[in-house]
Amino acid sequence: MKVAVLGAAGGIGQALALLLKLQLPAGSALSLYDVAPVTPGVAKDISHIPTEVAVEGFAGTDPSDALKGADIVLISAGVARKPGMTRADLFDVNANIIRSLIEKVAEVCPKACVAIITNPVNATVAIAAEVLKKAGVYDKRKLFGVTTLDTLRSETFIGELKGLDPTRVTIPVIGGHSGVTILPLLSQVQNVEWSSAEEIETLTKRIQNAGTEVVEAKAGGGSATLSMAQAAARFCLSLVKGLNGAKVVECSYVEGDGKYARFFAQPVRLGKEGVEEFLPLGKLSAFEEEALKGMLETLHADIASGEKFIKG
Ligand SMILES: NC(=O)c1ccc[n+]([C@@H]2O[C@H](COP(=O)([O-])OP(=O)(O)OC[C@H]3O[C@@H](n4cnc5c(N)ncnc54)[C@H](O)[C@@H]3O)[C@@H](O)[C@H]2O)c1
Repeated sequence: MKVAVLGAAGGIGQALALLLKLQLPAGSALSLYDVAPVTPGVAKDISHIPTEVAVEGFAGTDPSDALKGADIVLISAGVARKPGMTRADLFDVNANIIRSLIEKVAEVCPKACVAIITNPVNATVAIAAEVLKKAGVYDKRKLFGVTTLDTLRSETFIGELKGLDPTRVTIPVIGGHSGVTILPLLSQVQNVEWSSAEEIETLTKRIQNAGTEVVEAKAGGGSATLSMAQAAARFCLSLVKGLNGAKVVECSYVEGDGKYARFFAQPVRLGKEGVEEFLPLGKLSAFEEEALKGMLETLHADIASGEKFIKG
């Protein structure tokens, strides 16, 4: 299994590379690419860790060498938020970066599973889909927006609030990956009693705004990197398991049946070709139904901005 990380010299990329060097199955290959000249050095650095994962690093303007033979491509290339910015404020810079990187993916490793971390995820995934479509290689089972950090945060905050081991909390987080489009389905958490509607509303808002908590605490130094790296590593390892024939369920922002929006974060069963099955959302509470309705205008606009960027 070969995994390529694009944006590998960044805050997320370096931590992600480290986690993958430690956790990918023996015999895997890890390929690191970034425009930053330090990238071969990052690869050299982690290559000294004794695991059976081969590491290569590439810098410069062309990611082709890094992408050759890749089964999975993780993309965190781009700029991150500073205080006062929304994820949508990143659109202009990151849209161009995603377009050019995906053009190379379409050319060099068109059958790879592609997982996009770069924000605004609600739109960058739509950009990637349109670029792959234009190149005639789009397979909706193989394109993912990484929303796993919303899941990690939900697990952590529920564990804290309810005195539970957070590694045992499971919760679907649906919709998209910004503000009101992030919808944790608290009603589906097993063995938890919610004390009031207010408790549910407050926790939902905290999960939706958790990225901003980090941006503000870093005071101009960027957004979540370490927790995001863990989220991306978890998603990548699930993809690897799926490609190797195991059946694994994760929530991800994918092109499903389009019932709510063309792209929508939902539980998916991963398998040998990427998404093996788009799973149902399950039963929603009245609060969640309302929140789902309330997010759709924003989500549709985000998706349209990505589509328009490519289609004009
Ligand atoms: N999906 C999520 O939950 C989530 C969470 C946190 C951050 N993010 C997003 O991830 C992205 C990266 O965040 P970060 O903190 O690692 O930022 P960072 O600035 O530390 O790193 C970004 C890296 O991208 C590289 N880069 C820029 N243009 C490139 C190109 N064309 N090709 C290859 N590399 C390129 C830069 O050189 C840099 O090393 C941001 O867009 C951020 O908003 C997403």
